[in-house]
Amino acid sequence: MNEKQRLEQAQINPVHSADKLSEKDNIDRIKNISSDDMIAKYFQTSYQPPDLKKARKRRREEVQFHYDFQIPEDVQLIGQGKKFLIRTYGCQMNEHDTEVMAGILTEMGYESTTETSEADLILLNTCAIRENAENKVFGEIGHLKPLKLEKPDLILGVCGCMSQEESVVDRIMKKHQHIDIVFGTHNIHRLPNLVQEAMFSKAQVVEVWSKEGDIIENLPKVRKGNIKAWVNIMYGCDKFCTYCIVPMTRGKERSRRPEDIIQEVRHLAAQGYQEITLLGQNVNAYGKDFEDIDYRFGDLMDDMHKIDIPRVRFTTSHPRDFDDHLIEVLAKGGNLLDHIHLPVQSGSSEVLKRMNRKYTREDYLELVRKIRKAIPNATLTTDIIVGFPNETEEQFEETMTLVEEVGFEAAYTFIYSPREGTPAAKKQDDVPEEVKKQRLYRLNELVNKQSAASMKSYKNKTVKVLVEGESKKDPNVLAGYTEKNKLVNFKGPKSAIGKIVDVEITETKTWSLNGVMVENTVEVK
Ligand code: 5AD
Ligand code: SF4
Repeated sequence: MNEKQRLEQAQINPVHSADKLSEKDNIDRIKNISSDDMIAKYFQTSYQPPDLKKARKRRREEVQFHYDFQIPEDVQLIGQGKKFLIRTYGCQMNEHDTEVMAGILTEMGYESTTETSEADLILLNTCAIRENAENKVFGEIGHLKPLKLEKPDLILGVCGCMSQEESVVDRIMKKHQHIDIVFGTHNIHRLPNLVQEAMFSKAQVVEVWSKEGDIIENLPKVRKGNIKAWVNIMYGCDKFCTYCIVPMTRGKERSRRPEDIIQEVRHLAAQGYQEITLLGQNVNAYGKDFEDIDYRFGDLMDDMHKIDIPRVRFTTSHPRDFDDHLIEVLAKGGNLLDHIHLPVQSGSSEVLKRMNRKYTREDYLELVRKIRKAIPNATLTTDIIVGFPNETEEQFEETMTLVEEVGFEAAYTFIYSPREGTPAAKKQDDVPEEVKKQRLYRLNELVNKQSAASMKSYKNKTVKVLVEGESKKDPNVLAGYTEKNKLVNFKGPKSAIGKIVDVEITETKTWSLNGVMVENTVEVK
């Protein structure tokens, strides 16, 4: 909708104020409603609880592509004069979903705010990957209750991966009636209707589909910043690692059409973006689901290589689908950066088998050898889980030796967290919590040592930094990332923000570098 249409629409009041819930109605709902009644109502009528078992199923149904998303006319102005705030937990996929929801809300007339007290609509975009992520969200849900009682017209929503879990939805319905909307990862495009329903309904609005998922192409987006951008290339995951809830919360693997991705990236390049990150739970499976064309992740990266955008990254990879063609394409370099994030999860073939990772320690090391042969300077980083059920000391040691052998320069490390509905959660586990914590500590020590050593090698060297802004700690210092994704803090002019500049490294730390900008790499105004 353009500005003129928006103004025209503004002449029409889409809301009959008499239909709107009175403040008293709203407070009554929050305070007095019997949650059992509420649940009974939903279960008797149209509400279908999210069902992890159903979500596990993979049917051969064709993915539906939709190019016709529109904000329904009667909600186009519903947010005028109001503000929204979205709090995002978890991975880049969630960050990007937040950009889409922000786009939808902006088209509904809402403005964004970072102040909780100013917001008329607050969404918690949640993560289900580990229990502590979920606990944080329930803590936040509790904190929001007094605010809702103080401001009954405030709309509170919970979305993202946690909403795809039956137990979470039940708990919100039973114990957190101050939440107005619960919607899942497949229902984002329904946000306008859900907000409208929440404004005019006395009941909690719950809409979560356990379906495998379609692709909706033309959703609006408000991107965070104008330097780096996320681009979804596929959704869902069919790998079913035994510890992981993602295949259930995000649906089956489905790839966007190459022409849609290429068009989006070209558009970003034309707008002056300097870096894009291609996103998927397992980007290497890209294109496997196409029946009419033979076009895989290597082909897509080859097409990215031809686009005039300085930096292209991707995340996240699964070693199993990392094929020779992809390595060959990545070796072309140019805008395809030589930092590869390749989650290994464990260094023990036995544990990898129990995780259903479908590769062995030797397969992983062989893949690393191939990558290093083709791209000698490649930086490798990874994800590791310690304390998987019944992991022995020897098996953990195998993870430690693998970390050394590969020479990972950074790693996201986690203690295994059982997730309801996953096969691993049903296993007896004989590893005491204290032992798991010790293993995490030992692993982190090793990773830190390797990270610090890789950082040291940059001393007195000049690196290319994409300058993102001022450092959080000191506004006189600029910060950005190198091609290999190392954080650099340096002194330089503000005019360097948004540009790629040369920085000479003067000091190295465990997780970052300090330096000075090499003069004349950017025009100083
Ligand atoms: N417990 C701990 N870590 C997990 N991850 C995924 N599921 C779990 C779990 N149940 C980790 C994996 C994955 C990263 C995104 O989160 O290492 O690569
Ligand atoms: Fe989870 Fe494994 Fe899929 Fe990654 S590849 S999202 S760890 S199931």
